[in-house]
Amino acid sequence: MSENKLKKIIVDRISLKGQITFAEYMTACLYEPETGYYTSPGRKVGTEGDFYTSITVHATFGRVIAREIEACWRSLGSPEKFTLVEAGAGHGRLACDIMDFLSEQKPDCYAATRLVLVEKEPSLAEAQASLLSEHIKKLSWLTPDELKDFKFTGVLYSNELLDAMPVHRVIMTPQGLKEIYVTTNRGDFEELTDTPSTPELEAYLVRYGIPLHPGQEAEISLAGLKWFEAVATSLQQGFILTIDYGWPKAALYAPERNIGTLLCYYKHTVEDNPYHRIGEQDITTHVNFSALIERGEELGLKTLWFGEQSRFLISSGIIEELEAIEASDMTDRDKLKLRLTIKRLIMPEGGMGDTFKVLVQSKGFVEPKLSCIRDIGI
Ligand SMILES: C[S@@+](CC[C@H](N)C(=O)[O-])C[C@H]1O[C@@H](n2cnc3c(N)ncnc32)[C@H](O)[C@@H]1O
Repeated sequence: MSENKLKKIIVDRISLKGQITFAEYMTACLYEPETGYYTSPGRKVGTEGDFYTSITVHATFGRVIAREIEACWRSLGSPEKFTLVEAGAGHGRLACDIMDFLSEQKPDCYAATRLVLVEKEPSLAEAQASLLSEHIKKLSWLTPDELKDFKFTGVLYSNELLDAMPVHRVIMTPQGLKEIYVTTNRGDFEELTDTPSTPELEAYLVRYGIPLHPGQEAEISLAGLKWFEAVATSLQQGFILTIDYGWPKAALYAPERNIGTLLCYYKHTVEDNPYHRIGEQDITTHVNFSALIERGEELGLKTLWFGEQSRFLISSGIIEELEAIEASDMTDRDKLKLRLTIKRLIMPEGGMGDTFKVLVQSKGFVEPKLSCIRDIGI
């Protein structure tokens, strides 16, 4: 039903303009008020949803992130007021795991922390407040627009936010760069190529030195880069921690990745057709981490660490978390079960260990005391 309603909204929009960019189409599919994938009711993440994220695997993921957050706080000189911002907080599971860890294990840092949740879908604030009820006095909320003007010292982190931002799709042709648009044909969606909707697309490829070969398709996340530029500017002093699917540009735009990276998720099945199940399946693309690193450096951010999630979690304390589980009074069977669950966070090929990358950037101070930058010899 909601698919038909959303489809009609998009079809009407196309009939007014003749064609819309893929970015406009993806924005409607994911975020059209009340009918988009993220803006309509229903569980998206976890067993009953369409896909897993690391935070739905086990609280250990959040606990390891929390260890690094506490190290960020110490790196800032253990200030009395420390702002933690989660962008794209979803139902608040990661924020809850982080705050639980800090309150149990790092009370000084917890006492200083206030947590700001930012979520494009405002109705999720209720679920976040309920899940984080024990930490309610520390919570506040900002809209994505308000975040742009929010000046703060602390840490901004996100998990799988940028891969959910709309992308333009382009293709290199013998006549030069073209953009992929969406139109309709007898009531169905159809793609066509035309002159790029904005010179920013070609400028992006030139700026980041991305040579597409004839026939190669690629995604460009102008929205993701603009979001990142805004938060890099809002942060006065501290850290940005970004966890997401993605690659550096050489791998992301490699000739063998000829058709880009767009994927759709529905009830734990994956496909590449964004015109199915409109508003009922997730649409994602891989993040260009080189753009975040290079643009970040222009905006005064220092790249402290970039690499696979597995390496990040191992350096940052997952082994210590596993040791604590071993030493606990759980039954051997429960320990084994938990070890196997947690393994998914670090295993490559089918696990989340190397598909996901972590980027840690800092702004405005001298000596970061983060565990991820220690040498673990792997
Ligand atoms: C793939 S989900 C990830 C949710 C959660 N971080 C997790 O790991 O399970 C992406 C979330 O980002 C939100 N989102 C998208 N654009 C946003 C923006 N500009 N600011 C804040 N949240 C945004 C979506 O509404 C959605 O809840």
